[in-house]
Amino acid sequence: MRLIQFQFILIFISLKKNCFGNEEIVTLANDENLKYRLHYHIMASSGWMNDPNGFSFFNGDYHIFYQHNPYEVTPGNVHWGHVKSKDLVHWKYLPNALTPGEPYDRNGCFSGTAIVDGNNLILFYTGNVDENNSTNYSSQNQNMALSGDGVKFEKFSRNPIIPFPPEDGGSAFRDPKVWKHEDNWYLLMGNQAKENGRVVLYESKDLKNWNYIGVLASSWNGSLGYMWECPDFFKLNESYVLIFSPQGLERDGDKYANLYQTGYVVGGYCYEYNHFSYGHFTEMDFGHDFYAMQTMETPDKRRVGVAWMGMWESNFPESEEGWAGALTIPRELYLEEGKLIQKPIRETKLLRKSLLFSKLITVNGMEEICELKAAEIDIDTKLCADIDEFGFVLDDQEGLVVKFYLNETDKTFNLDRGDEDPRKTGFEELLYLKMQIFLDASSLEVFLNDGEITFTSRIYPNQSPLLSIFSRGSCALDVDVKIFELENIWEKCN
Ligand code: FRU
Repeated sequence: MRLIQFQFILIFISLKKNCFGNEEIVTLANDENLKYRLHYHIMASSGWMNDPNGFSFFNGDYHIFYQHNPYEVTPGNVHWGHVKSKDLVHWKYLPNALTPGEPYDRNGCFSGTAIVDGNNLILFYTGNVDENNSTNYSSQNQNMALSGDGVKFEKFSRNPIIPFPPEDGGSAFRDPKVWKHEDNWYLLMGNQAKENGRVVLYESKDLKNWNYIGVLASSWNGSLGYMWECPDFFKLNESYVLIFSPQGLERDGDKYANLYQTGYVVGGYCYEYNHFSYGHFTEMDFGHDFYAMQTMETPDKRRVGVAWMGMWESNFPESEEGWAGALTIPRELYLEEGKLIQKPIRETKLLRKSLLFSKLITVNGMEEICELKAAEIDIDTKLCADIDEFGFVLDDQEGLVVKFYLNETDKTFNLDRGDEDPRKTGFEELLYLKMQIFLDASSLEVFLNDGEITFTSRIYPNQSPLLSIFSRGSCALDVDVKIFELENIWEKCN
């Protein structure tokens, strides 16, 4: 215990420039001794992180930025951390792209997006000011920063570009998403109006001068929350999808079990009249840790999204190691019969280091497979009529880390971390079950039946957990199991 406390103090007093040029509390990226440090997920080299920002492709590289406090393992003093990649799975750290400090963003460079215009990568973000005496901008205002090389960003001299919320809107006014349609630029952002969440739309010809168009979608009588954060809006097939993260949804049985949700609506949109007619709100993920998804279109026209693999106000046991928070693996998004499907991006195959296990096994009870740290586990089976439960368990020898299973009796999928807070969602009829599972040192992402349902949760094994596959019921199942060991992309200080 003493030793742990001592290490903890050391982490917090060592403030220095790390090998990525960032002044941070410590350089952890390649420390093999930290048990929760992830192998192939994006996380800060040290300090706190939350939402993904500025997901884009510029001069041959993918860029992801993230909300980042380099000096503490708690939220606050938000910078934009920055990583880039050639293939969406091997990431390199770059210096922080945005640092708060201007009068209009002195308490944080909040979330936003990036676009490419000519030779520039341009970031749009919310400047946050806790106590505001200025009459020139409100406490949340919108800004831009430009870069010719994708590394160094300069804040625009005439920031804020949108200083105030619309007249009927409250001061919660943040998280701009910018895109181009025909000859116009559009900017959509979250806003609160009379306790209702909504997203409001602006239009521009030159990215600097913005005209307010109006409300694109809103919560009816607060039924969809009091504030909508981190909107994203795009065309998929012939429909339009609005992803957003409402605050204030009441838990409804198994639905909306986290403090805040991320979900989507699908509909038809007409630019001429800013008219969006859309259906019901659907949650995107059923685990404990999934928020603020942001998407981009890849050069080969895939819609790919990435989310914060965390949740406000949850515990982050990794903060004892000097870091907190991570992003999900990027996911390809598809629309099938009005439902958003999430598949792990195909590039995750590039992370496969070795095939650890490949067998057709018969499961009737508990089958121990092997110990794993960072792995992709593919499990396929044809279900039989007399099965009650089927799933897997990860156990770290000190106890249950997580149990994930299908319960045929009440037709639910369940993720149980052994705490008082399991997660579940229902299904209708199922003949086959295909589970693609991404396990990392402190995270679990489960994709069911090619991404129809996903569960994303942080988990905290004390040592490499043992994987077992189990069934309960009066029939044996033939289960095809393949396990790949996945690479540690942070091995070198790259
Ligand atoms: C969402 C959010 C955003 C805000 C950012 C601050 O998680 O609250 O609305 O811009 O985080 O870090």
